[in-house]
Amino acid sequence: MKRILVIHGPNLELLGRREPAVYGRITLKEINAALRKTARKRKITLKIAQSNHEGEIVDLIGGAKSRFAGLLINPAGYTHTSVAIRDAIAASGLVTVEVHLSNIYSREEFRRESLVSPVAKGAVLGFGAKSYTLGLGALIDLIA
Ligand code: DQA
Repeated sequence: MKRILVIHGPNLELLGRREPAVYGRITLKEINAALRKTARKRKITLKIAQSNHEGEIVDLIGGAKSRFAGLLINPAGYTHTSVAIRDAIAASGLVTVEVHLSNIYSREEFRRESLVSPVAKGAVLGFGAKSYTLGLGALIDLIA
């Protein structure tokens, strides 16, 4: 069975309580359950990780190269700042789909640049929790 690594970046463990007007009331646990359901239907195994630490995310991506067929990532705040995460994705050669709950282009100016998008195959954003399941579906199609 093909394996996909899912990475949730900083502060996403707070979903449900964190700025609900922006991110909704859904929790990370509920998002992960929806992802596992989609994966099960498509006969894909998921490894799901959440980290608030840039270096830990770099290590996860670095270790994924030969073990996973693809990467689904919401880099959260690191989207806009992390050359290290971008470089790790580029170095890994993993087919990568970037996701965001919110539409980062309709928010503050500082969110309008993603350092990750240029090394991702594609991005899904602005659909709340659905961005994740749509992104996972697209990623599974890509690696099929
Ligand atoms: C986010 C958007 C980022 O700008 C923000 O820092 C997040 C979440 C999103 O999913 O909409 O933490 O990645």
